[in-house]
Amino acid sequence: MIFYFSGTGNSAYAAQRLAKKLGGQTVDISDALREGKTTYVLEPGETVGFVMPVYFFGIPVILHAFLYALQFVTKEQHYTYLVLTCGGKSGAAGDLFDGLMRDNAYALSAYYSVVMPDNYIVWYKAPTETKIRECLRAADQELDKICEDICIRMTGNCDRHRGPLPGIMTKVAYPIYKRGRKTAKFLATEACVGCGLCERLCPCEAIKLENRRPIWVEDQCVFCLSCINRCPQQAIQYGRHTVAHGRYQNPEV
Ligand SMILES: Cc1cc2nc3c(=O)[nH]c(=O)nc-3n(C[C@H](O)[C@H](O)[C@H](O)COP(=O)(O)O)c2cc1C
Repeated sequence: MIFYFSGTGNSAYAAQRLAKKLGGQTVDISDALREGKTTYVLEPGETVGFVMPVYFFGIPVILHAFLYALQFVTKEQHYTYLVLTCGGKSGAAGDLFDGLMRDNAYALSAYYSVVMPDNYIVWYKAPTETKIRECLRAADQELDKICEDICIRMTGNCDRHRGPLPGIMTKVAYPIYKRGRKTAKFLATEACVGCGLCERLCPCEAIKLENRRPIWVEDQCVFCLSCINRCPQQAIQYGRHTVAHGRYQNPEV
Protein backbone atom coordinates (compact mmCIF):
# COMPACT_ATOMS: atom_id res chain seq x y z
CA MET A 1 0.00 0.00 0.00
CA ILE A 2 1.39 3.41 -0.93
CA PHE A 3 0.01 6.54 0.75
CA TYR A 4 0.74 9.78 -1.04
CA PHE A 5 0.06 13.48 -0.83
CA SER A 6 0.60 15.72 -3.85
CA GLY A 7 -0.15 19.34 -4.76
CA THR A 8 1.11 19.53 -8.33
CA GLY A 9 1.46 15.90 -9.30
CA ASN A 10 5.15 15.03 -8.68
CA SER A 11 4.47 12.87 -5.63
CA ALA A 12 1.36 11.35 -7.26
CA TYR A 13 3.51 10.42 -10.27
CA ALA A 14 6.26 8.98 -8.03
CA ALA A 15 3.69 6.95 -6.06
CA GLN A 16 2.19 5.57 -9.30
CA ARG A 17 5.62 4.61 -10.65
CA LEU A 18 6.51 2.84 -7.38
CA ALA A 19 3.15 1.02 -7.36
CA LYS A 20 3.65 -0.11 -10.95
CA LYS A 21 7.10 -1.52 -10.19
CA LEU A 22 6.45 -2.87 -6.69
CA GLY A 23 2.73 -3.68 -6.86
CA GLY A 24 0.12 -2.58 -4.34
CA GLN A 25 -2.60 0.06 -4.36
CA THR A 26 -2.13 3.81 -3.93
CA VAL A 27 -4.11 5.88 -1.42
CA ASP A 28 -4.47 9.66 -1.75
CA ILE A 29 -4.06 11.03 1.79
CA SER A 30 -6.29 14.07 1.22
CA ASP A 31 -9.13 11.81 -0.04
CA ALA A 32 -8.61 9.46 2.93
CA LEU A 33 -8.87 12.36 5.39
CA ARG A 34 -11.93 13.81 3.64
CA GLU A 35 -13.64 10.39 3.79
CA GLY A 36 -12.44 9.72 7.36
CA LYS A 37 -10.76 6.51 6.18
CA THR A 38 -7.72 6.09 8.40
CA THR A 39 -7.76 2.38 9.32
CA TYR A 40 -6.12 -0.07 6.91
CA VAL A 41 -5.78 -3.86 6.96
CA LEU A 42 -2.32 -5.00 5.86
CA GLU A 43 -1.64 -8.34 4.17
CA PRO A 44 1.20 -10.51 5.53
CA GLY A 45 4.51 -9.33 4.05
CA GLU A 46 2.97 -6.23 2.50
CA THR A 47 5.23 -3.14 2.29
CA VAL A 48 3.90 0.27 3.33
CA GLY A 49 5.06 3.36 1.46
CA PHE A 50 4.56 7.09 1.99
CA VAL A 51 5.28 9.58 -0.79
CA MET A 52 5.06 13.34 -0.32
CA PRO A 53 6.71 16.66 -1.20
CA VAL A 54 9.24 18.47 0.98
CA TYR A 55 7.96 21.80 2.30
CA PHE A 56 10.51 24.11 3.93
CA PHE A 57 12.78 21.15 4.71
CA GLY A 58 9.83 19.48 6.41
CA ILE A 59 6.62 17.74 5.41
CA PRO A 60 3.12 19.03 4.50
CA VAL A 61 1.19 19.77 7.71
CA ILE A 62 -1.69 17.56 6.53
CA LEU A 63 0.57 14.60 7.40
CA HIS A 64 0.48 15.47 11.10
CA ALA A 65 -3.30 14.95 11.15
CA PHE A 66 -3.12 11.84 8.99
CA LEU A 67 -0.38 10.09 10.96
CA TYR A 68 -2.13 10.92 14.21
CA ALA A 69 -5.29 9.16 12.98
CA LEU A 70 -3.66 6.33 11.01
CA GLN A 71 -4.19 2.76 12.27
CA PHE A 72 -2.92 -0.46 10.72
CA VAL A 73 -4.66 -3.76 11.36
CA THR A 74 -1.85 -6.31 11.31
CA LYS A 75 -0.06 -8.78 13.53
CA GLU A 76 3.43 -8.23 12.15
CA GLN A 77 6.04 -5.56 11.48
CA HIS A 78 5.97 -4.32 7.90
CA TYR A 79 8.77 -2.84 5.85
CA THR A 80 7.76 0.84 5.83
CA TYR A 81 9.45 3.46 3.66
CA LEU A 82 9.17 7.15 2.87
CA VAL A 83 9.97 8.74 -0.50
CA LEU A 84 10.25 12.53 -0.42
CA THR A 85 9.99 14.48 -3.66
CA CYS A 86 11.86 17.77 -3.52
CA GLY A 87 13.10 20.58 -5.74
CA GLY A 88 16.69 20.12 -4.57
CA LYS A 89 17.19 19.77 -0.82
CA SER A 90 15.17 17.81 1.70
CA GLY A 91 16.96 18.74 4.95
CA ALA A 92 15.85 16.54 7.83
CA ALA A 93 12.28 16.05 6.55
CA GLY A 94 12.76 12.28 6.75
CA ASP A 95 13.77 12.44 10.42
CA LEU A 96 10.76 14.68 11.12
CA PHE A 97 8.39 12.18 9.49
CA ASP A 98 10.03 9.26 11.31
CA GLY A 99 9.53 11.12 14.61
CA LEU A 100 5.82 11.55 13.88
CA MET A 101 5.52 7.86 13.02
CA ARG A 102 7.18 6.91 16.30
CA ASP A 103 4.77 9.17 18.21
CA ASN A 104 2.08 6.94 16.72
CA ALA A 105 3.89 3.69 17.70
CA TYR A 106 5.06 2.97 14.13
CA ALA A 107 8.50 3.52 12.61
CA LEU A 108 10.13 3.92 9.23
CA SER A 109 12.40 1.16 7.97
CA ALA A 110 14.01 3.46 5.40
CA TYR A 111 13.66 6.85 3.80
CA TYR A 112 14.63 8.14 0.40
CA SER A 113 14.31 11.31 -1.65
CA VAL A 114 14.10 12.16 -5.33
CA VAL A 115 14.65 15.52 -7.03
CA MET A 116 11.71 16.62 -9.20
CA PRO A 117 10.77 19.99 -10.72
CA ASP A 118 10.34 22.71 -8.07
CA ASN A 119 6.75 23.96 -7.81
CA TYR A 120 7.44 26.75 -5.28
CA ILE A 121 6.57 29.61 -7.62
CA VAL A 122 5.94 32.04 -4.77
CA TRP A 123 9.70 32.71 -4.59
CA TYR A 124 11.10 31.19 -7.76
CA LYS A 125 10.25 31.05 -11.47
CA ALA A 126 8.78 27.74 -12.64
CA PRO A 127 11.34 25.60 -14.49
CA THR A 128 11.44 25.79 -18.28
CA GLU A 129 10.02 22.93 -20.37
CA THR A 130 13.54 21.70 -21.19
CA LYS A 131 14.53 21.72 -17.51
CA ILE A 132 11.31 19.88 -16.60
CA ARG A 133 11.97 17.17 -19.20
CA GLU A 134 15.60 16.68 -18.05
CA CYS A 135 14.63 16.69 -14.38
CA LEU A 136 11.82 14.15 -14.86
CA ARG A 137 14.08 11.85 -16.86
CA ALA A 138 16.64 11.88 -14.03
CA ALA A 139 13.83 11.41 -11.48
CA ASP A 140 12.66 8.25 -13.26
CA GLN A 141 16.16 6.81 -12.91
CA GLU A 142 16.30 7.77 -9.22
CA LEU A 143 12.87 6.25 -8.60
CA ASP A 144 13.88 3.00 -10.28
CA LYS A 145 16.98 2.82 -8.07
CA ILE A 146 14.78 3.45 -5.02
CA CYS A 147 12.55 0.56 -6.14
CA GLU A 148 15.59 -1.71 -6.30
CA ASP A 149 16.60 -0.63 -2.77
CA ILE A 150 13.07 -1.24 -1.49
CA CYS A 151 13.09 -4.71 -3.07
CA ILE A 152 16.21 -5.65 -1.11
CA ARG A 153 14.69 -4.04 2.03
CA MET A 154 17.40 -1.42 2.49
CA THR A 155 17.12 0.18 5.93
CA GLY A 156 17.98 3.53 7.52
CA ASN A 157 18.53 6.99 6.13
CA CYS A 158 18.96 6.57 2.35
CA ASP A 159 18.13 10.21 1.56
CA ARG A 160 20.81 11.48 -0.86
CA HIS A 161 19.49 15.06 -1.06
CA ARG A 162 19.54 16.28 2.53
CA GLY A 163 21.98 19.11 1.73
CA PRO A 164 24.30 20.80 4.24
CA LEU A 165 23.28 21.04 7.92
CA PRO A 166 19.95 19.27 7.37
CA GLY A 167 18.92 19.32 11.04
CA ILE A 168 19.51 23.05 11.35
CA MET A 169 17.79 23.83 8.02
CA THR A 170 14.67 21.99 9.15
CA LYS A 171 14.74 23.49 12.64
CA VAL A 172 14.96 27.03 11.22
CA ALA A 173 12.76 26.80 8.10
CA TYR A 174 9.96 24.42 9.06
CA PRO A 175 8.44 26.62 11.80
CA ILE A 176 8.28 29.46 9.24
CA TYR A 177 6.10 27.24 7.03
CA LYS A 178 3.97 26.05 9.93
CA ARG A 179 3.27 29.62 11.12
CA GLY A 180 3.38 31.57 7.88
CA ARG A 181 1.16 29.68 5.40
CA LYS A 182 -1.60 32.28 5.22
CA THR A 183 -4.09 32.51 2.37
CA ALA A 184 -4.60 36.31 2.58
CA LYS A 185 -2.33 37.00 -0.42
CA PHE A 186 -4.10 34.57 -2.80
CA LEU A 187 -6.37 36.32 -5.30
CA ALA A 188 -8.22 35.56 -8.53
CA THR A 189 -7.76 38.08 -11.35
CA GLU A 190 -10.16 39.07 -14.15
CA ALA A 191 -8.91 36.04 -16.11
CA CYS A 192 -10.90 33.75 -13.78
CA VAL A 193 -13.76 32.00 -15.62
CA GLY A 194 -15.28 30.47 -12.47
CA CYS A 195 -14.64 26.84 -13.47
CA GLY A 196 -14.20 25.84 -9.81
CA LEU A 197 -11.20 23.56 -10.45
CA CYS A 198 -9.23 25.28 -7.66
CA GLU A 199 -12.04 24.53 -5.17
CA ARG A 200 -12.22 20.87 -6.24
CA LEU A 201 -8.45 20.38 -6.12
CA CYS A 202 -7.85 22.05 -2.75
CA PRO A 203 -6.85 19.27 -0.30
CA CYS A 204 -7.87 21.22 2.80
CA GLU A 205 -11.14 22.77 1.62
CA ALA A 206 -9.69 26.26 2.01
CA ILE A 207 -11.39 27.54 -1.19
CA LYS A 208 -15.09 28.18 -1.80
CA LEU A 209 -16.63 29.61 -4.95
CA GLU A 210 -18.72 32.75 -4.37
CA ASN A 211 -20.34 34.37 -7.41
CA ARG A 212 -18.17 32.03 -9.49
CA ARG A 213 -14.97 33.42 -7.97
CA PRO A 214 -12.67 31.56 -5.55
CA ILE A 215 -12.55 32.90 -2.01
CA TRP A 216 -9.93 31.53 0.36
CA VAL A 217 -12.16 30.92 3.37
CA GLU A 218 -9.56 29.27 5.57
CA ASP A 219 -6.82 31.46 6.95
CA GLN A 220 -4.36 28.58 6.86
CA CYS A 221 -3.92 26.03 4.12
CA VAL A 222 -1.39 23.28 3.43
CA PHE A 223 0.30 25.62 0.91
CA CYS A 224 0.55 22.88 -1.71
CA LEU A 225 0.15 25.59 -4.41
CA SER A 226 -2.16 23.35 -6.39
CA CYS A 227 -4.65 26.20 -6.91
CA ILE A 228 -2.14 28.66 -8.32
CA ASN A 229 -0.13 26.16 -10.38
CA ARG A 230 -3.06 24.23 -11.84
CA CYS A 231 -5.47 27.04 -12.75
CA PRO A 232 -5.98 26.57 -16.53
CA GLN A 233 -6.35 30.36 -16.97
CA GLN A 234 -3.36 31.27 -14.76
CA ALA A 235 -5.88 33.54 -13.04
CA ILE A 236 -4.63 32.96 -9.49
CA GLN A 237 -1.81 35.03 -8.05
CA TYR A 238 -0.08 35.18 -4.69
CA GLY A 239 0.42 38.90 -4.12
CA ARG A 240 2.45 40.51 -6.90
CA HIS A 241 5.33 38.03 -6.89
CA THR A 242 3.80 35.31 -9.04
CA VAL A 243 2.69 37.32 -12.11
CA ALA A 244 5.88 36.58 -14.04
CA HIS A 245 6.83 33.28 -12.40
CA GLY A 246 5.09 30.87 -14.78
CA ARG A 247 3.35 27.75 -13.48
CA TYR A 248 4.25 24.11 -12.94
CA GLN A 249 2.33 20.88 -12.81
CA ASN A 250 3.62 17.39 -13.49
CA PRO A 251 2.89 16.74 -17.19
CA GLU A 252 2.23 13.00 -16.61
CA VAL A 253 -0.57 13.37 -14.04
C1 LIG B 1 5.37 25.32 0.32
C2 LIG B 1 6.48 24.65 -0.44
C3 LIG B 1 7.73 24.53 0.12
C4 LIG B 1 8.75 23.85 -0.54
N1 LIG B 1 9.96 23.69 0.09
C5 LIG B 1 10.93 22.96 -0.49
C6 LIG B 1 12.15 22.68 0.20
O1 LIG B 1 12.35 23.04 1.35
N2 LIG B 1 13.10 22.00 -0.47
C7 LIG B 1 12.94 21.56 -1.76
O2 LIG B 1 13.85 20.95 -2.30
N3 LIG B 1 11.77 21.77 -2.43
C8 LIG B 1 10.76 22.45 -1.82
N4 LIG B 1 9.56 22.65 -2.48
C9 LIG B 1 9.36 22.04 -3.81
C10 LIG B 1 8.57 20.73 -3.73
O3 LIG B 1 9.00 19.92 -2.65
C11 LIG B 1 8.68 19.89 -5.01
O4 LIG B 1 8.45 20.63 -6.15
C12 LIG B 1 7.73 18.70 -4.94
O5 LIG B 1 8.15 17.71 -5.84
C13 LIG B 1 6.29 19.06 -5.23
O6 LIG B 1 5.51 17.90 -5.12
P1 LIG B 1 4.00 17.76 -5.62
O7 LIG B 1 4.01 18.08 -7.11
O8 LIG B 1 3.66 16.34 -5.36
O9 LIG B 1 3.18 18.72 -4.86
C14 LIG B 1 8.53 23.33 -1.84
C15 LIG B 1 7.27 23.48 -2.42
C16 LIG B 1 6.24 24.12 -1.73
C17 LIG B 1 4.89 24.25 -2.38
